Amino acid sequence: MDRLEKVIQKMTEPPQAKEPLEKVIEKAKETVKETSTDSISYTQTKRHKIDPVLMRQRRVISLEKFGPESETFRLLRTKVLKQLRDNNWNSIGVTAPSQGAGKTMVAVNLAIAMAMEVNQTVLLVDLDLRRPQVQHYFDFEVKQGLQNCLLNDVPVADILVNPSIERLVILPGTGTMEGTSELLTGHKMREIVQEIKQRYQSRIIIFDLPPVLTSDDVLVSMDFFDSALMVVAEGESKPADISKSIQLLSGTNLLGTVLNKAEKMPEHIGQY
Ligand SMILES: Nc1ncnc2c1ncn2[C@@H]1O[C@H](COP(=O)(O)OP(=O)(O)OP(=O)(O)O)[C@@H](O)[C@H]1O
Ligand SMILES: [Mg+2]
Repeated sequence: MDRLEKVIQKMTEPPQAKEPLEKVIEKAKETVKETSTDSISYTQTKRHKIDPVLMRQRRVISLEKFGPESETFRLLRTKVLKQLRDNNWNSIGVTAPSQGAGKTMVAVNLAIAMAMEVNQTVLLVDLDLRRPQVQHYFDFEVKQGLQNCLLNDVPVADILVNPSIERLVILPGTGTMEGTSELLTGHKMREIVQEIKQRYQSRIIIFDLPPVLTSDDVLVSMDFFDSALMVVAEGESKPADISKSIQLLSGTNLLGTVLNKAEKMPEHIGQY
C-alpha cells in the first residue's frame, strides 16, 4: 500500500487564512465565475449556485486556487489521480473507522480539487445512506436523493445536481434511514452503480461512505469502487480501530490514509 499521509490541519472557524479574508473570498468568487461557463451540457441536471463564502465556513477550501490549505487537497488530488491512472481505476470510496473523522469534508474537497483539473470530470455520490451530508457542504436541499432511486424508482438523472462548478456533478442522498445494508446489497443498487459507471465512463466517481466500523455498509458496497481512502482524525481515531479498519478494507485497494484535524503540519509534508 502506498501511504499517502496527507495531513489536513485542524481548521477553525472563522477560517485562518494567511491572506486577508476578503481577498480569499474574491478569488473563490472568481473561480466560481470562471468555472460556471459550461463546456459540458447539463441540460437535464439541476444547477445549484454555490456560495463560496459559506462553503469556506464549512471547511470547503479547495475552491481556492492558491494558498497552503487548498494546496493540501491539490497535492492529495495529484497523488490519488496518479495511482488511479497507473492502475486504470476510476472510483474511490472515502471512509474512516468511525463517525465524524471528516470523510465528507475530505470527499467534497477532493471532488472539487479533481474537477478543477482541466479534463477531469467527477461524480460525487453520497453513499452514506444513513446520514447523507454532502448537500450540507454545498448548501442545497435535497427533495429526492439516491434513497428515492432505490425505493421509488426515481431515475438517477432526475436527482443529479451540478453545483456551478464545471466538471462536477453530485448524486445526493436524503433523509435518515436504517436497514441500509439490505438496500446496498439489493439488485436496484447494483443497477444504479452499473448505470452511473456506464454513463460516466470517463469520470472519476467518488463515493462518500459511512464509517467502516459502525455498520456493514462499507463491506457490502466494497465492489462498487476500485480503491479507498481512509480518513483518520488526530486524537479521535483509536489505533486499534484504525488497524481493524485497514484489515476490513483488505477487499479493496487502499490508496492510503488522510490524517485530518492535525494540530501541526509535519515538516516532511512539504515534500509533496
Ligand atoms: N480539519 C478539520 N478541522 C476541524 N473540524 C473539522 C475538520 N474536518 C472536519 N471537521 C468537522 O468535523 C465534523 C465532521 O466532519 P464530516 O461531516 O466531514 O465527518 P464525517 O466523517 O463525514 O462524519 P459522519 O460520520 O457523520 O459522516 C464537521 O462538523 C466538520 O466541519
Ligand atoms: Mg459523512
